[in-house]
Amino acid sequence: MDDWYRTAVIYEVRVRSFADADSDGNGDFAGLTSRLDYLQSLGVTALWLLPFYPSPLRDDGYDIADYRSVHPDCGTLDDFQRFLEAAHARDLRVITELVLNHTSDQHPWFQRARHAQRGSPERDWYLWSDAADGLAGARVIFRDFERSNWSWDPVAEQFFFHRFYSSQPDLNYDHPAVREAILDVTDFWLQLGVDGLRLDAVPYLFKREGTTCESLPETHRFLRELRAHVDSRFAGRMLLAEANQCTEQTLAYFGAGDECHMAFNFPLMPRLYLALERECAEPITEVLAQLPDLPPGCQWATFLRNHDELSLEMVSDAERQELWRHWAPDPRARINLGIRRRLAPLLGGDRRRIELLNVLLLTLPGTPVLYYGDEIAMGDNLYLPDRHGVRTPMQWSGTRNAGFSACDPQSLALPVVVSPDYHYMGTNVEAQDRQPGSLLNWTRRFLAARKRHAALFGRGALRILPGGDPGVLAFLRLHDSRRVLVLANLAASSRLASVDTSAIVQPPGAASPVRLRDLLSGHELTLAGPTLQAILEPHAALVLLVAS
Ligand code: NOJ
Repeated sequence: MDDWYRTAVIYEVRVRSFADADSDGNGDFAGLTSRLDYLQSLGVTALWLLPFYPSPLRDDGYDIADYRSVHPDCGTLDDFQRFLEAAHARDLRVITELVLNHTSDQHPWFQRARHAQRGSPERDWYLWSDAADGLAGARVIFRDFERSNWSWDPVAEQFFFHRFYSSQPDLNYDHPAVREAILDVTDFWLQLGVDGLRLDAVPYLFKREGTTCESLPETHRFLRELRAHVDSRFAGRMLLAEANQCTEQTLAYFGAGDECHMAFNFPLMPRLYLALERECAEPITEVLAQLPDLPPGCQWATFLRNHDELSLEMVSDAERQELWRHWAPDPRARINLGIRRRLAPLLGGDRRRIELLNVLLLTLPGTPVLYYGDEIAMGDNLYLPDRHGVRTPMQWSGTRNAGFSACDPQSLALPVVVSPDYHYMGTNVEAQDRQPGSLLNWTRRFLAARKRHAALFGRGALRILPGGDPGVLAFLRLHDSRRVLVLANLAASSRLASVDTSAIVQPPGAASPVRLRDLLSGHELTLAGPTLQAILEPHAALVLLVAS
């Protein structure tokens, strides 16, 4: 089984924001290709590309008008293929978006449907109604922007259903032709050589009256079909579920190992911030305890931030208020049910907390997904609409447009960050390249060290240990005879970590003395007694490889 994704480190990149080769103010494939050396030197092994297809861009390209082509802003299909070859030549895998729940209202399928006769097969590619009151159990997701999941189409003279913006009509998965068309799109990209597909908004495919219209059995049945289809035609490809659901329903996307290979760990993500806020490991240990071993070949995709708001949809109302109060006191930072901030400004620019969350991202079970720019602690722009504030151009240098583009600064599709704390003159790749202690170099060192133990971190089992202090998260990762002990202080004050060494030494009492080596500092310590004790400074972490 080629399960490359289990030992991968994924880098999420917005092609439009990464590098602009033709100076039109938009990032493109030629630009991204020219920056592959950087990505390789960072130490990531797979790139996840945000939508780059023709689109009216009402939802940053998640409103697709043509599934088989490249938006002219980003280049051509040939540019994409050149990029793919160049990435593969460097052993970088490429994951693209399969936006299968909805299209743009500009897509020819919708244009055909709205003009077709009521009840005709062409009309039925989408969901229509004469009244806007059906499927009432389906929540409105973009609640700051849409009041209903139904909108009136004056051409069709009917309402159509949309789970997101009203410019994104939902496809009708009960229509066999729709399912077939989506399988064809899947084949198109996998035939080109794409290694993985992120299944956008996958819980919402099938709708049934009287339900929440999320994670229905029919949706899972289709996913099994999709998986079997992919497996029968292509080797070593990966499906990644974007299913922002409660723990039990998120797990369902792995099926019995016959649905998606990966799913984002939405249950864990907000609990990392809750634990940091409460200075207490329990929110993390509690959720990890609920996560069973996954079916063979399956893997979590772990993340801290992405191109969307930090979603607080799946925490309790009280927890959401608590997280909002703590992490987003500025109301402009709140959107829908989440927080639209990048990692660094979210954490108040605090390097220790940024490193701490990254340590957890890189050591907890799952494949880590890094968001472009977070490796240099890029800032955001709360004055931009929607979620664009976390999608600004990559900051390469202190020169014009942060080295992202040679265009007239006024023609940039999104402005570069110029707020005093995160100005591109100071926060950029070139400057951090030169500073051995920069976050960029810290991240490089961590990824390089992690790569040497890729199987342990990617496939290892997890054992949570009592850490001796409520603020200390202690856990062991084990794979074959290898093990690593992670101690993380979630508190803003120093804490004494205290761990029973019999959990570390296997079999108990064997091979003493046992030596531990910190993955990052290289410092060694020897276990001297039945308990390992370490004073951890505020927000400090140790990643101790057991070298008995
Ligand atoms: C999830 C994507 O991450 C988000 O950016 C998008 O708006 C919705 N799905 C709708 O496609």
